[in-house]
Amino acid sequence: MNTPSLPGKYPYSRPRRNRKSGWSRRLVRENELTVNDLIWPVFVQEGQAQSTEIGSMPGVSRLSIDLLLPEIEKAAALGIPAVALFPQTPQNLKTEDGQEAFNPDNLICRTVRAIKDTVPDIGVICDVALDPYTSHGQDGILVDGYVANDLTLETLQQQALVQAEAGCDILAPSDMMDGRVAAIREVLEEEQFVNVQIMAYAAKYASAFYGPFRDAVGSSANIKSGGKHSYQMDPGNTDEALREVMMDIEEGADMLIVKPGMPYLDIIQRVTSETSFPTFAYQVSGEYAMLHAAAQNGWLDLDQVMMESLLAFKRAGASGILTYFAPTVAQLLADR
Ligand code: PBG
Repeated sequence: MNTPSLPGKYPYSRPRRNRKSGWSRRLVRENELTVNDLIWPVFVQEGQAQSTEIGSMPGVSRLSIDLLLPEIEKAAALGIPAVALFPQTPQNLKTEDGQEAFNPDNLICRTVRAIKDTVPDIGVICDVALDPYTSHGQDGILVDGYVANDLTLETLQQQALVQAEAGCDILAPSDMMDGRVAAIREVLEEEQFVNVQIMAYAAKYASAFYGPFRDAVGSSANIKSGGKHSYQMDPGNTDEALREVMMDIEEGADMLIVKPGMPYLDIIQRVTSETSFPTFAYQVSGEYAMLHAAAQNGWLDLDQVMMESLLAFKRAGASGILTYFAPTVAQLLADR
């Protein structure tokens, strides 16, 4: 890709020629964001006609099922392919072992059934992890203060099963236990849910960018000590992300997630160039909050940085993005 140096006073090769007008820039554009790239994460809570604004996530509210359904209908009408559901479990249902996770009538299962009844054509993704259900806010079961891997796997299998029975299309294990994809795949195959997909949070980092999410699902106050560093990945690692990804693929994952998004674009790029698997970036709550905060101060143009940040994921090779901006972006794309 060397530009030959030609004799003469002026450059013969001028990359700016292709940039001279809008039509030409469109013609040579390498990556484009479309509505088909978007997965919308939503927060759900108990009750009727309940809407709670999330202070650290401007424009995002946690909704009761009745208020969520019309929003999902709008998202489907805009062409958003899938939503990812996150529940706020009432404090009195949170326990040491997180057993509400596998109650077939828990909030998330009721939400899935309601969506499948009213908006059958949108894909429904459920998180598989115990943190919304544990009194300590960790993603698994604690034994002497340590998240016990294999004990947690048994609970994740039960959680996966009730979600699949409720009609969930894609299970997204976000817990980072070793062997969880195989454990979940096994129970799905045994129980005839052969077509339920697994979107594995293959490379999920122990990140400080999840703060606002923990406010939204009400788990921040519960995480008292230790953080999640004994199971989520160390932000210094790249090769390890590849090993995690390869394990999840071997264990039966259909799609992969890299999380967070923007601070880990290198990981997305490497995962997509070294595997042929559909890989999604999760633009997490802290990234969303950051762009909004700057925009509120008048320091950044929200629409422009929103679009640019999402396009960056496409450029890095992502098949799509989980983003709280999804409905706003879908509307913006539709209006163009
Ligand atoms: C929980 C889970 C988290 C997120 C998605 N699933 C938080 C965490 O691991 O503590 C974060 C998403 C976000 O910040 O937007 N297993």
